Amino acid sequence: MDYLWTVGEVSEAVKGQIEVLGSEVIGSDVQGVEASGINSVSIDSRTLEEDALYIAIQGVSQDGHAFVRSAFQAGAKACLVSKDFELDGSEGADGSDCSGGILIRVEDTFKALQDLGAASRKRCTGKIIAVTGSAGKTGTKEALRVMFEKFGHTHASVKSFNNHWGVPLTLARMPRDCEFGIFEVGMNHAGEISPLSKLIQPHVALITTVAPAHIGHFANEEEIADAKAEIFDGLMDGGACLLPADNRHFDRLKQAALEARVQNVYSFGKASGVDVQLVTGEFGHERSVIQADCFGEVIDFSISIPGEHIALNFLGALGCLKLAGCDVLQAASVLSELIAPPGRGVRHQLHLESDVSSKVLLIDESYNANPPSMDIALKNLSALKDSTYCRRIAVLGDMLELGAHSDYYHREIAPLIASLDVDLVFASGEMMSHMFNELPQDKKGAFALNSKDLIKPIEESLQSGDVVMIKGSLGSDMGSVVTALCEKYK
Ligand SMILES: Nc1ncnc2c1ncn2[C@@H]1O[C@H](COP(=O)(O)OP(=O)(O)OP(=O)(O)O)[C@@H](O)[C@H]1O
Ligand SMILES: [Mg+2]
Repeated sequence: MDYLWTVGEVSEAVKGQIEVLGSEVIGSDVQGVEASGINSVSIDSRTLEEDALYIAIQGVSQDGHAFVRSAFQAGAKACLVSKDFELDGSEGADGSDCSGGILIRVEDTFKALQDLGAASRKRCTGKIIAVTGSAGKTGTKEALRVMFEKFGHTHASVKSFNNHWGVPLTLARMPRDCEFGIFEVGMNHAGEISPLSKLIQPHVALITTVAPAHIGHFANEEEIADAKAEIFDGLMDGGACLLPADNRHFDRLKQAALEARVQNVYSFGKASGVDVQLVTGEFGHERSVIQADCFGEVIDFSISIPGEHIALNFLGALGCLKLAGCDVLQAASVLSELIAPPGRGVRHQLHLESDVSSKVLLIDESYNANPPSMDIALKNLSALKDSTYCRRIAVLGDMLELGAHSDYYHREIAPLIASLDVDLVFASGEMMSHMFNELPQDKKGAFALNSKDLIKPIEESLQSGDVVMIKGSLGSDMGSVVTALCEKYK
């Protein structure tokens, strides 16, 4: 079967009722409608592909039922809607004709999304990997995706689709003949990962790290570790987990795995005696050269995304490949071609307008920031001291979701910067203002509440030979600074 789903399969999975707009379905028509093929699944009517199933979800601010008509107009083959939905009332009568469109009616469309995800998991005979952790999930998921692609048909989460809708949607999109499925699993609160893991039912679960991200919703880091350990709840019988040996919560994670009766508990990291060990690592500005011992097999490879933390994440990923029965030397060879996902360390060469031979390096870390990733990004910037670049400039926006701990974690950055080879700091956001005030006078560039107001002062300050690292939580909008500088100095 070429289709992702047939209408009949979807309807059966979600216990829905099929209806064809503008006609009554009778006798042999029913079979014809049920056999109609669906090739993609979406909950966003703006990004539909041909022959899609559109699922109308009630969101926080919008009800997806308002876009059913647009979905049909955009080429949806079928729309999954709630029982009492009436098309005519949805967007006002605009004369467009949806006749022939297939509706699948259910009590609760969100539950239907989960049911479809569960049905997809049930029919899949491939190996399933789940990745969670306080940082590095998307980067590691991408590494897993490119490595597994060498060995068979691989399906992976899009972007950071890691929550209560992202995970079932990724499952619902998994091709029926998929040999490897890679799932990113995230959380903001305790209790969120357990049901996602039970839906995914991974054969291998990887925890990248445990650190104070989203700590605003937790009393302490131990609670974060416990929330990550919920990933063990859905692990398949005979499944395995890979845990970060160098993390201060390793023992706690291991204990939780044993209590959850995980049969195969493995570790990765620098410590001796771990299952996937970093034997040697040369961490350059552009790439890392690694020798690792992966379950007794020594492999040499290089990674084009700089940073020891990235190399360690990828050791965990290689452990997953080994556990899935793949050749790890062959797998690791693709890591030299993998580039950083957008906003997570992507490098841009800029040229100042006045001087085409000028050279400025921009490191885009604008997708995300929390205390551990901020710490690492600043240290990596400082380590560029011995490179050909003269000044190291940090442009920092607020780290969000730190709750009562926010003030503490932002202030902590000032002494760190004072101790590092970072020459100049531009900062935006209310929280970063405390950090900025405590910086040594000669490291103060400029401060603005709004990130966009930093663009001009940065432009005025830039000189050939600068390296600029831009980092903040997504909501702090440091991406606007990246875009403006890249456009002006391309
Ligand atoms: N083990 C690690 N420790 C600290 N920081 C890390 C680690 N791995 C990656 N990072 C950094 O964390 C940032 C976010 O990376 P990534 O997007 O892969 O994380 P994520 O867990 O998917 O985040 P999100 O929760 O937003 O989906 C990047 O700047 C990356 O360099
Ligand atoms: Mg992510």
